[in-house]
Amino acid sequence: MSHQPIYVTRTFLPPKEEYLRLLNEAYESHVLTNNGPLHKRLEAALRERLEAPHLLLMANGTLAIQLALRALQVKGEVITTPYSYVATTSALLWEGCTPVFVDIRPDTLCIDPALIEAAITPRTTAILATHVYGIPCDVEAIDAIAKKHGLKVIYDAAHAFDVRYRAGPSLPTVMPAP
Ligand SMILES: Cc1ncc(COP(=O)(O)O)c(C=O)c1O
Repeated sequence: MSHQPIYVTRTFLPPKEEYLRLLNEAYESHVLTNNGPLHKRLEAALRERLEAPHLLLMANGTLAIQLALRALQVKGEVITTPYSYVATTSALLWEGCTPVFVDIRPDTLCIDPALIEAAITPRTTAILATHVYGIPCDVEAIDAIAKKHGLKVIYDAAHAFDVRYRAGPSLPTVMPAP
């Protein structure tokens, strides 16, 4: 019997020709940083595809969480999930916040809203939850708790790119030509 390996962490690569075409464009533009033409095109394509007008490209997911924490001026204790990539917690630590872990639901692997209120203290300022493996958190329940206690909410959606909450129509998958 032959065994086919399953690469759980193998990098997904785009078609090489398509990638090289874009790389050539970057070379020809001589702009490799700071809001270059490819950067702008990708941002515009993502805004349209994800129907997210307030969208910024970041160098990595950790920085995106850090920026969100700073933008919302989150300080003190932040309720978060222990079941995520390490960046969810390390971004909190980088920003001087104290992570307070609340357990997950066994069916969704996302933070269990039923356990959040017991972890709230006078120092709690926010909830940072992860949509695990593309499964959305119970956003309505989390929102209701946040509103009741005056907390900010940030979602780490690194696993949930292009996931539609209560599914909408599917959209094209390739970056449009200039
Ligand atoms: C849930 C989650 N959050 C954040 C990150 C951080 O992303 P990066 O490694 O790009 O900083 C990852 C990366 O795998 C992730 O899986």
